[in-house]
Amino acid sequence: MKKFVMLDSHTLPDADFHQEKELLAEHNIECVLAKCKTEEEVIACAQDADCIGDNYFRIDGALLDKLPNCKAIIRYGIGYDVVDVDACTQRGVWLCNLPEYCVTDVATHTMAMMLDLVRKTTLFDRHTRAGDWDVGYGYEVHRLEALTLGLVGFGNIARLFSKYAKVFGTRVVASDPFVAQEIFQEYGVEKISLEELFAKADIVSVHVPIIPSTHHLICRETIAGMKDGVMILNTSRGPIVDIKALIEGLHSGKVCAAGLDVVEGEPISDPHHPLWACENLVVTPHTAYNSVEASDAQHTQVAETAVAILSGQTPRNIVNRKQLGL
Ligand SMILES: NC(=O)c1ccc[n+]([C@@H]2O[C@H](COP(=O)([O-])OP(=O)(O)OC[C@H]3O[C@@H](n4cnc5c(N)ncnc54)[C@H](O)[C@@H]3O)[C@@H](O)[C@H]2O)c1
Repeated sequence: MKKFVMLDSHTLPDADFHQEKELLAEHNIECVLAKCKTEEEVIACAQDADCIGDNYFRIDGALLDKLPNCKAIIRYGIGYDVVDVDACTQRGVWLCNLPEYCVTDVATHTMAMMLDLVRKTTLFDRHTRAGDWDVGYGYEVHRLEALTLGLVGFGNIARLFSKYAKVFGTRVVASDPFVAQEIFQEYGVEKISLEELFAKADIVSVHVPIIPSTHHLICRETIAGMKDGVMILNTSRGPIVDIKALIEGLHSGKVCAAGLDVVEGEPISDPHHPLWACENLVVTPHTAYNSVEASDAQHTQVAETAVAILSGQTPRNIVNRKQLGL
């Protein structure tokens, strides 16, 4: 009997994993829900696993060497920065992700943050609750049709977000050297360089994965190249934005407002973190992916991927497909 082990099931506390249990049982595959917090626990639970499900547990080459049966790792999400892709490739291990399960949710969340910043809803709410009924409080309000949105990265989430923003009449530009001009044309989005984007955008929104070349892509130098009073959104990964540089920008007014679903150093539980001294800031706790529908899709797609792999098929959501020559 083949064996699937979900390593860190405790990191999805609301899930009952019925999709995995039911589909794997139908295909005569053992389904183990482990709650590993240490490497020793992972090795004990998964050393004979044929396929592993992973949410946030860091998997590197040394750990893979202790899991000799593992043919594939399925990440419960879009980003796969918790897994060492090269280490997987070197060992012939397939790394799969779920490239589409929460695209709608993250695009909607980013749109919600953009609307919030532009209309100052959270800012006004904080002030009216404090007894300050002041329509003129804070920065100037502009119509969305007067603003330019700059998307850093033009993958699935940015493309859908561009559609939402265009409904409000916002001009959308994007920078992504890996996406063909025709795709930009299809979405009615202007393809420009990153430098041009920073110079032109009233709102800069980050949609690239965290890789060495995108670490601190938004930093003191790049913020200096942005418009005065720029708004910055990040629903991708925290370390893409240098948090110290952003805080400086918010304090100086160079950055008028920011919306973050992800923060460098998250989770942040310190009530005295320097972020909280920034007024024009809205933060959510890495929740953009979340909805009932996304959760159902997440579990169903992991189960379907595991069944496909363990039935000898090659699913289409293999991240290191090219490197493995599949
Ligand atoms: N906040 C959340 O809950 C949440 C949920 C899902 C995904 N995410 C994050 O959102 C990110 C984007 O997701 P997606 O579905 O749009 O991914 P995607 O793979 O479809 O798009 C990413 C795009 O970034 C581009 N890119 C890579 N490096 C670049 C660079 N240096 N400059 C410009 N573009 C570059 C790629 O060409 C690609 O088009 C994911 O990597 C993930 O980290 C966050």
